[in-house]
Amino acid sequence: MEQQKLTELLSEMTLDEKIDQLLQLAAAFYSDKAEEKTGPMGDLGLTQENINNAGTTLGVSGAKEAIRVQKEYIANNRLNIPTILMADIIHGFRTIFPIPLGLGSSWDLAAAEKMAEVSAKEAAVSGLHVTFSPMVDLVRDPRWGRVMESTGEDPYLNSRFAEAFVKGYQGDDLRTDFNRVAACVKHFAAYGAAIGGRDYNTVNMSERQLRESYLPGYKAALDAGAKLVMTSFNTVDGIPATANRWLFRDVLREEFGFEGVVISDWAAIKEVIAHGAAEDEKHAAELAIKAGVDIEMMTTCYTDNLKELIAEGTVEEALVDEAVLRILTLKNELGLFENPYRGADEAAEAATVLSQEHREIASDIAKKSMVLLKNEGVLPLQKTEKVAIVGPGAHSRDLLGAWSWQGKQEEVVTLVEGAQALGADLLIGQEPFDYFAPSEAAIQEAIELVKAADKVVLALGEQEWMSGEAASRSDIRLPQAQLSLVETFKEYNEQLIVTLYNGRPLDLQGVDAAKAIVEAWFPGTEGGNALAQILWGEYNPSGRLSMSFPETVGQVPVYYNVDNTGRPYESAPDEKYVSKYLDVSNYAKYPFGFGLSYSPVAYSAVTLDQPTMTKDQTVTASITVTNQGTAAVWETVQCYIRDLVGEVVRPVKELKGFKKIWLEAGESATVQFEITEELLRYVHSNQQVSSDPGKFHIMIGGNSRDTQQTTLQLVR
Ligand code: BGC
Ligand code: BGC
Repeated sequence: MEQQKLTELLSEMTLDEKIDQLLQLAAAFYSDKAEEKTGPMGDLGLTQENINNAGTTLGVSGAKEAIRVQKEYIANNRLNIPTILMADIIHGFRTIFPIPLGLGSSWDLAAAEKMAEVSAKEAAVSGLHVTFSPMVDLVRDPRWGRVMESTGEDPYLNSRFAEAFVKGYQGDDLRTDFNRVAACVKHFAAYGAAIGGRDYNTVNMSERQLRESYLPGYKAALDAGAKLVMTSFNTVDGIPATANRWLFRDVLREEFGFEGVVISDWAAIKEVIAHGAAEDEKHAAELAIKAGVDIEMMTTCYTDNLKELIAEGTVEEALVDEAVLRILTLKNELGLFENPYRGADEAAEAATVLSQEHREIASDIAKKSMVLLKNEGVLPLQKTEKVAIVGPGAHSRDLLGAWSWQGKQEEVVTLVEGAQALGADLLIGQEPFDYFAPSEAAIQEAIELVKAADKVVLALGEQEWMSGEAASRSDIRLPQAQLSLVETFKEYNEQLIVTLYNGRPLDLQGVDAAKAIVEAWFPGTEGGNALAQILWGEYNPSGRLSMSFPETVGQVPVYYNVDNTGRPYESAPDEKYVSKYLDVSNYAKYPFGFGLSYSPVAYSAVTLDQPTMTKDQTVTASITVTNQGTAAVWETVQCYIRDLVGEVVRPVKELKGFKKIWLEAGESATVQFEITEELLRYVHSNQQVSSDPGKFHIMIGGNSRDTQQTTLQLVR
């Protein structure tokens, strides 16, 4: 449809119809089972008319159901406007991939794009049009359960992943490619900075910090073409994001040039009242529409109040018109006026969803996401070795992670099944093994296996509910019973390897008694296959942490790109009056960018093709890396920069580029990074981005801690 036609359509809509267009309702409202409908209808006080005209829908799924809902919706809608079916497809639809924090650890942008493409395809043939993904909130606090949804703590890495996700979801043309869905970037803005890591909590940061660290991820998703933006639950400089005019009108719309749809998070408009920034629903509606929020998810502040606000002149009807037009435009960009069912197709759904091809892709990506944290010569396992697999994770199918709506545990491959498929020589128990309180029988059975084995794989971790939304924790260790298992089993067999399924960086005190630790995250449907391949060396581990693991929760937030203090510990480690703790180091246990493989890779010194540069020049930094092992490996070469003197204090290290390279056993390669003046810019105190002449450290290495360094001078 031409844009002109959309404007005509808008002009045919009554004010009531326009206001309803801004409402998003959950699937239950469109159920064909009366009992599913009456509850929610009553709760929100909606009329059948409101429901017929509510512009978008959340959580309908299955091709058959999607077609039924759309058909009835259009028939009931006076102007036959189609609805949009939206849902949270975060790390897979039915074929579940590793959680985003695991994808972040792959440092593999093609893998992230592929994951998004496959998710989009499965979702689209099942009738969905929009996914509430990517979540690109920068995260520094592992107490926050939603770190599992993010790719981590770095603005640069998050931005690259944001682009990859959007490309994978949306493809090139949503109007013709019905295997794709529109992407909604969230949560705008800075939701990841909730104080104390407590979900939904207040955020407090300077505008400069917001711009420097937090906004780049969202901006990258928008530049990649994301069609929607979701508001966040938190405040931004004291004003709830969902009512924050500066954030949405000045920054998002004006400065970033975003023309797509803004949707509130679930009930977030109404929650402006609880924040204490609106008196009642009417006031909340006024603030949100003025801020530029187009769709209200699951509350009815707009539905119940906009008409009156317009009648009394508090809100201009033009604000409603522009919001409706944006929603109609999205419907049009999705091709829904011509093809209201879009990709929904029962036959395609049966053939596509959880296909063997998708499982293989999920398995491949899961391998790439796993991080070998520690290995004192016990891995990889050999098929000639007798290996006991014990602990709660051995037979667990709880590997999907918190945003796996359509994922089914019975479709998950367990670690034991993965190891069996490899033909490993295993000792396995049958007693059910609880995550928190394993029975005496289970422990005794395991002890016998541990004694009889050459090596032991102790599979530990969190259960799905322990991370994700509304799953913050103050203690990020494993449950005490699991830590006791490490101690107990080690007494019987020193060759102990711990594997971890979890959704956040953990405090691993107690676990580090093991000789090896493999971080497997919530790896998804193919998790057990992927983990077994890592353990038995069929895949040489290549994952690198995208979020630091603290030594203890007391250090949190601990992240690599910190500012220097006036009394840096490193300048005088024996001095009392320096910035430090009395009882723990300043550093992460496993820092950003860290991960081992079975092949050590050596780094030469860094060289520059010229030691100084002007604004218009490009300097090439080179380093030679050598695989000293006996197996080929993917090495992630990381380039960090430090601006030694800035108007504003600069972080001690900032990731500015990385390259994944394949190195055969014994192979050397030279890796180069191009350094331009643009890379040296940062947000100054006037909120403008520019560079300062002076010295910069160029640091290249295999993680953020162990780098080779040289100095570059930027001259005017
Ligand atoms: C979450 C969002 C999600 C929405 C819809 C909210 O509670 O914060 O991330 O997209 O629900 O399910
Ligand atoms: C302390 C000040 C104190 C000064 C002189 C500094 O180390 O931070 O509080 O006044 O020493 O003793």
